This record gives sequence, structure tokens and C-alpha cells, in this order.
Amino acid sequence: MILKGTFFSLPLTLLFDAQLVIVAETLILLAICATQALAVDFTNSKWIWTNEAGANLQKPPGSRAFRRDYYPPLGKSALSASVLITADNGYTLYLNGKQIGMGHNWPAAQAYCVRLAPSCNVFAVNVTNDLTVPNPAGLLAAIQIRYTDGFVETVVTDSTWHVNTNVPSGFQEVGFDDTAWPAATVESNYAGSPWGPISIPPSAASPRLSLSDANWIWTNEVQSGIAPVGNRAFRKTINLPPGQRATSATIYMAADDSFTLYVQGRIVGSGSNWTANKYVVDILPHSQEVTIAVFAHNIGGPAGIIGQVNLTMEDCDCGSVVSFVTDGSWKSSNGTPAGFEQFGYDDSAWPAAVVEGKYGMQPWGSIAIPQAVSAPSGPIAGAPSAMFASVAK
Ligand SMILES: *[C@@H]1O[C@H](CO)[C@@H](O)[C@H](O)[C@H]1NC(C)=O
Ligand SMILES: *[C@@H]1O[C@H](CO)[C@@H](O)[C@H](O)[C@H]1NC(C)=O
Ligand SMILES: *[C@@H]1O[C@H](CO)[C@@H](O)[C@H](O)[C@H]1NC(C)=O
Repeated sequence: MILKGTFFSLPLTLLFDAQLVIVAETLILLAICATQALAVDFTNSKWIWTNEAGANLQKPPGSRAFRRDYYPPLGKSALSASVLITADNGYTLYLNGKQIGMGHNWPAAQAYCVRLAPSCNVFAVNVTNDLTVPNPAGLLAAIQIRYTDGFVETVVTDSTWHVNTNVPSGFQEVGFDDTAWPAATVESNYAGSPWGPISIPPSAASPRLSLSDANWIWTNEVQSGIAPVGNRAFRKTINLPPGQRATSATIYMAADDSFTLYVQGRIVGSGSNWTANKYVVDILPHSQEVTIAVFAHNIGGPAGIIGQVNLTMEDCDCGSVVSFVTDGSWKSSNGTPAGFEQFGYDDSAWPAAVVEGKYGMQPWGSIAIPQAVSAPSGPIAGAPSAMFASVAK
């Protein structure tokens, strides 16, 4: 960089107030996009199993099948569900015949966000009790269902589930006939003996970040704030939780001295002189895996990139936005290997980027956080050419 005389900054008054958003909620789909998902918890969930005999919940080992059909109330159309689930000892969860996820560590629940069919949905779980001797076995779940009109409802594990002492093939299919299966037996309330409280992942309630939460990063070549002249490459790949696909990315990016930004291997735009640009990029096709790649050039002296990304989910599933910043989880290369900008490029051998410091640090100071989007633009000198991304203008 070449030091500028003055820096200017914007006050950070842009942060959302969740309460105001909820007050402003109206019965349109867009409103769901703006609201935070309500937290789903196990408060009303029961530990359930078969009615097999076993003193003190000591149940025979083996796999058992559980099903819960779900029909929305008349006139409502289901949109998405947040599923919180754990099982002693392990489970495989299906929705409408499709595997959603597996877990095998009952003290720590797992969370999933899934799109629902508008009307009938079938949750099916294959739960396995380990060991060769009877021991406690149970399934615990809470499923928060969202409708297209914004209403939410929670289905929990209780005696409305159907259970079977073996797991027939095809048991997870919507058309499977479980009418002869008995109702599940309730063993205990949530937090009851022998399991106690279960830890819940932060998942969809993860905080939304902004550029002021981001870090200046560069390669491991920086010494006393000075980096070699030349081109460097940076990458970050996000794998979203099962059932979630990103539809768009809103990105702030700045570099000392200049950058070209790629999303899913496509050119988004370029910027220079540590002025942050803002882009709204369509993710096409919608994807569970999102790759951000940056070609950056240093003309000498200090060097860094700083950025922040909000990913919006398909149909606003679970109301969640996945938000991340430039930090030590980004990968950096001391060169710009051919194809580095591409989706699917293998950066596993690249070292972690080095964090130089937080937003606001010298010599860059509190760079302006843009509100308007920047015009998309072509690659800077030396940066790979590629197809252009679909970018809001
Ligand atoms: C149920 O889970 C057990 C343990 O993972 C597995 O061995 C079995 O094949 C599964 N059954 C079905 C029908 O998926
Ligand atoms: C991401 O969302 C947060 C919270 O709404 C906001 O403060 C921040 O500016 C957003 N970032 C981008 C790149 O739009
Ligand atoms: C960035 O700074 C350099 C050196 O001062 C200048 O030549 C160039 O025009 C600047 N670029 C932009 C886009 O302002």
C-alpha cells in the first residue's frame, strides 16, 4: 500500500434489531427471510423407545425403527423444519425417504435444516442400541415446522410416533405402511434420568457478522507488517449443514493493494486501495458447498485482504443466514496456482492464512463499510479470466 493522508469511516448503525424485525413481520414470504429462526429446544420432547421389557430402561441391543407422519393444519403449506435430534446410542434420520444425517454421540444433539413437502412429510429414524447386553436406549427429537405464512409449530418425540422392533427395508419411504406398528413408549421427560441435559449446537442461531468483525489476512510471508511484492491467492470453502443450499452471497471485500473476487469459480469483481466493495452474487446452481477465491496483488509494503460474507439459504430455510469473515480458517498460497479460483480446486495442501489483525487496525484504519453495491468488473492484471458471475448491479 501507499499511505493515504486520511481515512474515513461510517458509524455502525446498520446492525439489525431482531425485536424490530419481529414487530414488523407481516404474512408474506419475504418476512420469513428477515426474521431470525426461533430457537428450537428439547423442553417438551420425551425419550421414547419400544415397549420391550427392561427394568430401569435396560433395553435389548439392536436397531429399532421410528416413524412420524406429519400433516399441516388445513389451509397451511409447510416450508421448512429445524430438527434437533439425538439417540442412545446412534441414529440415521430420514425425511420423505431421503437420508438427512446420522449421529452416534447421545450427549450432544445434532441440528438439521430441511425443506419440507407442502403437505405430508414423514420423519423416519433407524436407532441402534449398542452393546450385547441390555442397556439404556432412547430417541429424543424436536422438529420445528415453519409454514409459508410464517407460523411455526413444534413436533416432539412422544407417543404419537410409531415404532417397530426391527427395521424393515424401505421403512423410511413415504408410502411404507406403519399402521400396524404400536405407539412409541415414553421412557422419560427431557433431562430426566439416566440421560440428563443434552448439549445443543449453535447452528441456525449463529451470529450475523459484518465487516467490522473481520480480520486482515495475508500469507505467512508478512514480516514486521511488510509483505513481498506480487500476486497471492486465498480461498475459503463453506460446507452448509445437510438440507441447506445457498442461493446468494452478499460480500464485502477489500485488499491492499488490489483484488479480483471469484465465487464458485466465476468472476464477481475487482477493487483496489483498501476500499471495500459490496457485491450480491447469485449462487447458480444453488449449492451446499460455496467457494470464495481471491486473487490479490501487493505493489509493496503492507498487504492484506479483508472480507465478510452472508450466505442466504434456499427458500430462507430455517430463517438462517450463514455469516463468516476473513480469518485463520481461510487458505493462502504464496503464488497463484493454475485453476486456484475454480470450484472444487484442491487447496488441502495450502497453509492457513495469517491473521494480521482486526478490522480497524493500522495502517488501514476503519475503512468504510459500503451500503451500495459496486459495479461488477473484470479481472485485474494477472488474475485468471473466467465466466462472469450473476451479480446485482
Ligand atoms: C439400521 O441401522 C443399523 C446400524 O447402523 C444398520 O446396520 C442397518 O442396516 C440399518 N437398517 C436399515 C434398514 O437401514
Ligand atoms: C451480514 O448481515 C449482518 C447482519 O444483518 C450485516 O450487519 C452485515 O452488513 C451483512 N454483511 C453483508 C456483506 O451484507
Ligand atoms: C490506487 O492508488 C494508486 C496509487 O496511489 C493510484 O495510481 C490508483 O489510481 C488508485 N486506484 C483507484 C481505483 O483509486
